Amino acid sequence: MILEHFLLSVSETNCYIVACSETGLAAVIDPGEWNEQLDEFIALQELKLDTILLTHNHHDHTGGIAAVKEKYGAKLAAHHSNNDAEMKLSNGEVFELGSLKIKVLETPGHTEDSMTFVLGCDVFCGDLLFAGSVGGVPDRMSFDQEIAVIREKIIPLGDDMVLHPGHGPASTVHLERLYNPFLIP
Ligand SMILES: [Fe+2]
Repeated sequence: MILEHFLLSVSETNCYIVACSETGLAAVIDPGEWNEQLDEFIALQELKLDTILLTHNHHDHTGGIAAVKEKYGAKLAAHHSNNDAEMKLSNGEVFELGSLKIKVLETPGHTEDSMTFVLGCDVFCGDLLFAGSVGGVPDRMSFDQEIAVIREKIIPLGDDMVLHPGHGPASTVHLERLYNPFLIP
């Protein structure tokens, strides 16, 4: 598997490219903008950018979608409520990218359409959960929902899972379970 992180200038959003090393099929997660660095990586690794994966529909995660579609003809895979999605994703679904299997979890709270993608031991959780923090929410009910979702869907993935959030540094389920102030009972 190929996994590369890109720090975008828009809102310091984390963008990721994941790819199957056998077939070169690739997906970009949260292209909040598109830049030369991403093009260079795709060219250097000789990847076929096939899919755009969206953790949620906020502009700092979506700003580059039009450019990716135009340049690479990639399809948008997003929450089933997203009218622009060519591939509508629902909780529990597993889709294949070459030999990679990506599991979809619906993880609402930050937004109603928030999703998390699990690929082996890597978890792409968007703005659900950050190192030492959690995603901003519009109201108390959404906050309770967000915390419940983290407890019910993310923590059980296991301590060794690596978290790749939409902003800030990577973490692990273990670290967040023990030290995230929002998760300490
Ligand atoms: Fe967001």
